[in-house]
Amino acid sequence: MFIQKLTQELLQLLSLMKAKKRAYFLGLLGDGIGQAAVLVALPFVFKDLTDFASSKDPALLTRAIVTMAAMFLLFSLLSPFFSYIYRRCVREVVANIRLLVFQRLSRLPFAYYEQHHSGDTMSRLGNDVQLMERAYAEQLKTLCIIMLSLIGSIVGMFALDGKIATVLLLVSTLTLYVNAQFAKSVRRIGDQMQQQLGTGTERLSDFLAGLPVIKMFHLQKVVTARYTEANEQVTLSAIKQGHKHALLEGTNFFIQFVSFGGMLVFGIMMVAKQMIGLGVLVAMVQQQMLVTLAFLQLGQVITTLQGSLAGASRIVGFLQEPLEPKRYEPASTPTATRIYDSMLTMEQVDFGYTADTKVLQGVSLQVGRGQMAALVGTSGGGKSTVMKLLLGYYPPSAGSLSLLGKPIGQYSIAEMRSLISYVPQDAFLFEGTIEENIRYGCLDATEEEVIRASKAAYAHDFIMELPDGYQTRTGERGAKLSGGQRQRIAIARAILKNAPILLLDEATSALDTESEFWVQRALAALMQEKTVLVIAHRLSTIEHADMIYVLHEGKVMEQGRHAELLAQNGLYASMYEVQQRKDRPAPALSAPESSASLI
Ligand SMILES: Nc1ncnc2c1ncn2[C@@H]1O[C@H](COP(=O)(O)OP(=O)(O)OP(=O)(O)O)[C@@H](O)[C@H]1O
Ligand SMILES: [Mg+2]
Repeated sequence: MFIQKLTQELLQLLSLMKAKKRAYFLGLLGDGIGQAAVLVALPFVFKDLTDFASSKDPALLTRAIVTMAAMFLLFSLLSPFFSYIYRRCVREVVANIRLLVFQRLSRLPFAYYEQHHSGDTMSRLGNDVQLMERAYAEQLKTLCIIMLSLIGSIVGMFALDGKIATVLLLVSTLTLYVNAQFAKSVRRIGDQMQQQLGTGTERLSDFLAGLPVIKMFHLQKVVTARYTEANEQVTLSAIKQGHKHALLEGTNFFIQFVSFGGMLVFGIMMVAKQMIGLGVLVAMVQQQMLVTLAFLQLGQVITTLQGSLAGASRIVGFLQEPLEPKRYEPASTPTATRIYDSMLTMEQVDFGYTADTKVLQGVSLQVGRGQMAALVGTSGGGKSTVMKLLLGYYPPSAGSLSLLGKPIGQYSIAEMRSLISYVPQDAFLFEGTIEENIRYGCLDATEEEVIRASKAAYAHDFIMELPDGYQTRTGERGAKLSGGQRQRIAIARAILKNAPILLLDEATSALDTESEFWVQRALAALMQEKTVLVIAHRLSTIEHADMIYVLHEGKVMEQGRHAELLAQNGLYASMYEVQQRKDRPAPALSAPESSASLI
């Protein structure tokens, strides 16, 4: 069972080498055979030298010298050559695996990123790939040399004396059994340890991403405690693993000591009875030491290889994660008449992140060409979820979704996204120059087009005031720019994309008055001639919307224009009332509004 699993995982590890497998094995075997041949031939050289000492036969001395010289010459000439071949293969294979993991990562469905911590993924790209590299570069080579020298030594022992060789072989089988037993528990600990390392990376990446919050709330102690806990668990596992290793080494040593001692006593008795020559005994002792050493190393290498195989199987598992589909099958056929003139339609859409929850229930909305519709509602009501469906991050579980009058099933997901520009609440910028960040909206845009988009987004002036203008680097997540500047760059990017549908998660509530003014103007430029669906946090910005949908607990509770909704005196009217009161100059230090969490 254990051997079967080991073999299966080894094959899995090798399968990731793909076309490089042949070259790798050529290098590995070439190098391994050279090293093992020297080890196995040495006892025979000692045998000849011992026999020469007693018989004074010059032919024995010549043979010993020639064998030794030939072996060393072969080894020193061929080893570097083969070693280069396989090391090069390892580098190329590992680089390719990193790339495969990265490519897979970019093609997974959105749900994957929401369900897995980025630290876990980072750990995969880092720790697990490193473990695999160690397997290719070190452990498999050691395994190869051990196996070759074992085979060579066993053949050599049988050539010297069959009876002694048989006894030693039986002892060796016992060693193999003991090693296999140990390896199982070491593997369990290895698996645990990689998981704990992943948790450590998760905590570290949380720490880096949440630094401003940590500083503000003085959470250093809390996060350090969380990290220390993860770190301690890794240390505990490593100590447990070390304990197992030490036990294994001790057991191996004991078995080999007993067999070695037994063989020495038994062999001397045979020499005394002149059943074998002294040279044979010397060579046998040497071969036995080789076998001993090989088994000791075998135990060690199998246990460390276990850890690498665990890493490899996690990588293989990751590479088998289902990809985002090319297109979604429509959950149901839309009523053609209703969507005919609409740019964006949702009809009776149900959706849940898990099978047993419903976040959206029978949501229907429609935005006509060039119109602006707004989504408002209680926190957790499902506004962002509607956006996620429109962006093709998730398929609806029931109902239909259409863009430009066609159900989404008729578009590939890539086509769907090309019809939409999305400006999220917290604009994300990549580390790079401002120009690069704007150009992501349309990769082949000319410099003039980039500038025109920036001007339209009211970003050009502040960009030109920066020391390096468009070549200014934005820092990680755009950290070197203000919130409003980031937002305007994101708007310039969306203007450059020039998609007919615009989805907007209004972010101006987080900005100061001046920034808000410029961002609002940039948004107005972006919205021109577009079909817009906006999540509005400030109801005053959507007073002119063509249609307002009020979402509450996944259902559209009210819909209509601003004045109509106010007249209904329902949820929207009460939300508006709350905001109006908040916008009035506050009396000195009043208690916070209990309904402030409404939007
Ligand atoms: N990835 C997710 N997995 C599971 N549940 C989620 C996920 N994202 C959101 N939810 C749940 O779905 C519901 C709707 O969330 P959504 O983000 O759409 O609300 P929202 O209307 O945008 O709220 P807000 O105004 O606070 O941004 C919430 O109950 C939320 O907990
Ligand atoms: Mg939201």
